[in-house]
Amino acid sequence: MENLISLVNKLQRACTALGDHGEESALPTLWDSLPAIAVVGGQSSGKSSVLESIVGKDFLPRGSGIVTRRPLVLQLHKIEEGREYAEFMHLPRKKFTDFAQVRKEIADETDRETGRSKQISSVPIHLSIYSPNVVNLTLIDLPGLTKVAVEGQPDSIVQDIENMVRSYIEKPNCIILAISPANQDLATSDAIKISREVDPKGERTFGVLTKIDLMDKGTDAVDILEGKAYKLQYPWIGVVNRSQADINKSVDMIAARRREREYFANSPEYKHLAHRMGSEHLGKMMSKHLEQVIKSRIPGIQSLINKSIAELESELSRLGKPIAADAGGKLYMIMEICRVFDQIYKEHLDGVRPGGEKV
Ligand code: GDP
Ligand code: NA
Ligand code: MG
Repeated sequence: MENLISLVNKLQRACTALGDHGEESALPTLWDSLPAIAVVGGQSSGKSSVLESIVGKDFLPRGSGIVTRRPLVLQLHKIEEGREYAEFMHLPRKKFTDFAQVRKEIADETDRETGRSKQISSVPIHLSIYSPNVVNLTLIDLPGLTKVAVEGQPDSIVQDIENMVRSYIEKPNCIILAISPANQDLATSDAIKISREVDPKGERTFGVLTKIDLMDKGTDAVDILEGKAYKLQYPWIGVVNRSQADINKSVDMIAARRREREYFANSPEYKHLAHRMGSEHLGKMMSKHLEQVIKSRIPGIQSLINKSIAELESELSRLGKPIAADAGGKLYMIMEICRVFDQIYKEHLDGVRPGGEKV
């Protein structure tokens, strides 16, 4: 199954690499049918922090105010061994092993598109991380929802951000990580509001409660985490990310995860929930869920792939052979991936019914 997710990742990258060719073929539809996970929520609710702790690495710009100003499409690839590294699609031949440099490149690339302003852009940054310590996942970090424009931003920004976020999460293939901070009233949660709008039955929404450590003394999040305050199809997950003070002191991920584990295990109110709390559990759950979604989509994706192969073949014959141009190379690459994908699906289908259950 790991194989299948990693193949979906490759296909997603290939679809993007195809760039303008994709516009005229079935590939955008194919892209839309591949599952991905997006984080949504208010500004500073802890979206980037949640993504970082799922990945188990420091690499995202975080902080107060509007830090994330472009969507970041993040693909995690599990490798068996070797040193972890990152690669940007806009810098194809550069391998980053220093994750502080990854963070800097995200910030720089954001500025290249938007200027050093507080403007936003819907043009995504594509980043891949290869590591023995990740699960195969595609995650999307999105700018935070806000209620008012700040100095240097047009008044339209509130609506612009909302529209951009909606354009990602309204797609039926999008699994939503709805991030709400525990130190604010859930009734005011931007994450819950917008995810309910696009997924009223909560069939693809996971509620994540951050900042549990910052709740007022004498209050706790047990009612929410037990699904009594606001019921979602899937159980709520509580996390404790690093505080700004931790970040300033460079508290590392491993220490932060250990502390998070201890926090839930040692709090009398959360002890009974500890086994399904925390970032590590969240990462595992997301990977498992993604597998199920992919399985249930197999027949649909497969027919799209067949359609794409046919289109690519006619495109290739139109271009004529041999093809020297880069475009031809990309088309071949996609076709190759599609073929392998198709083959694996067929093998996999032997053991799976269209509904997704194991035979
Ligand atoms: P985003 O704007 O939603 O992406 O939020 P960030 O991840 O950038 O986090 C905003 C601020 O909240 C940062 O200073 C984080 O350190 C802090 N923060 C996020 N989650 C938690 C948490 O669970 N506990 C504490 N104490 N601080 C958190
Ligand atoms: Na922020
Ligand atoms: Mg952010």
